[in-house]
Amino acid sequence: MNPLDAYWMPFTMNRAFKQAPRMITRARGHYYTTDDGRELLDGFSGLWTSGLGHCHPKIVDAVQAQVAELDYGMGFQMGHPKVFELATRLTDMAPEGFTRCFFTNSGSESADTALKLALAYHRARGEGHRTRLIGRERGYHGVNFGGMSVGGIPGNRKVFSAALLPGVDHIRHTHSLADMAFTRGQPSWGVHLADDLERLCALHDASNIAALIVEPVAGSTGILVPPIGYLQRLRDICDRHGILLIFDEVITAFGRVGAPFAAERFGVTPDIITTAKGLTNGVVPMGAVLVREAIYQALMQGPAQTIEFLHGYTYSGHPLAAAAALATLDVYAEENTFATARTLEPVFEEAIHALRDAPHVVDIRNIGLMGGIELAPREGAPGARGYEVFLKCFEAGVVVRNGGDTLQLSPFLNSTPDELSHIFTTVRQALATTA
Ligand SMILES: Cc1ncc(COP(=O)(O)O)c(C=O)c1O
Repeated sequence: MNPLDAYWMPFTMNRAFKQAPRMITRARGHYYTTDDGRELLDGFSGLWTSGLGHCHPKIVDAVQAQVAELDYGMGFQMGHPKVFELATRLTDMAPEGFTRCFFTNSGSESADTALKLALAYHRARGEGHRTRLIGRERGYHGVNFGGMSVGGIPGNRKVFSAALLPGVDHIRHTHSLADMAFTRGQPSWGVHLADDLERLCALHDASNIAALIVEPVAGSTGILVPPIGYLQRLRDICDRHGILLIFDEVITAFGRVGAPFAAERFGVTPDIITTAKGLTNGVVPMGAVLVREAIYQALMQGPAQTIEFLHGYTYSGHPLAAAAALATLDVYAEENTFATARTLEPVFEEAIHALRDAPHVVDIRNIGLMGGIELAPREGAPGARGYEVFLKCFEAGVVVRNGGDTLQLSPFLNSTPDELSHIFTTVRQALATTA
């Protein structure tokens, strides 16, 4: 038996991996070390998680101190100070009006928590008929049943199709190769795509719709940047019909688009924001769902002796995660990380769009420090080309990610221009040698 057999790896070709493992044993700053001693420049910041670099000393110290002081504390009907402090810090940092914070352990849990909050909110206000949840084609909101149901990535849904939540619908996605290929930043074409929400309001009757959930920038599907004006139009339609707007900012929060939240970058304020990943710089799993005061207040109206929102996780607000998050927020402030990322954006944009003439490239998309390079699929083998480029980059000492045939880039928020140049040179070489 292969000693790697017992572990069923997530979102991984298990059989292929176990034949030829890619094992990392250490990480420092911008590099991983492999089990055979090679250094890899991490062009994906963990999994969109670790914008500050790996093993940031301040975060490591905070977690080490915390584990020796309070390893775990029951979070139901009891609390510990750091998680309250963290909630205050996050709501202070969030857009105006976000006053409450619910903790989870992942992006998937944040998405499901947000959907449950939307249903509970409407019911508490006497609009229990608002049960329908709307997502968007090509959206990704994790792998739990709620997030999967509002998600719009066909491969993730196919096997579970019969068990997806009822009463869910999707607006169309925002990508069109014909109209927006090789756009730098936000496309000027496509604001009208938001009107698809009006179609669903007419079809289902808006009074039955609880919430719309979208990623401000769709990440996992290959970086779909919102057309100019599109998010605002979604906001306007939601307002017109009393529908809550949820931004899934699991990727975009904490500097990835050069601001604390994409809501701020795009100047559009939703009702609920989900986060995870960059909250702790990936060091300890944690998610946070930020909500506006009206939602909290609506749920605080029942008898005082009842639990107002029957939802929570054993590890909600875990002390190690809270310590890691507080240290991470400190570092973001001390190192001026979000502004640094914003300054790097034009350098990143130049470097990624320079690949326009590389073989197989049919589109390049970018915003903040998120980039997608879409390749033409190989005849009869979709995804094979993207995977081969990923493998070649890995062999050449650079980690990028492929989602099918789209290469995804998510460099550190404090990358150097030389590192960016090294990542893209490596990608170019990999493309040049891939059939
Ligand atoms: C927008 C978005 N939502 C939710 C998730 C799910 O997060 P997790 O894998 O932590 O459950 C992800 C993960 O990439 C994501 O990008």
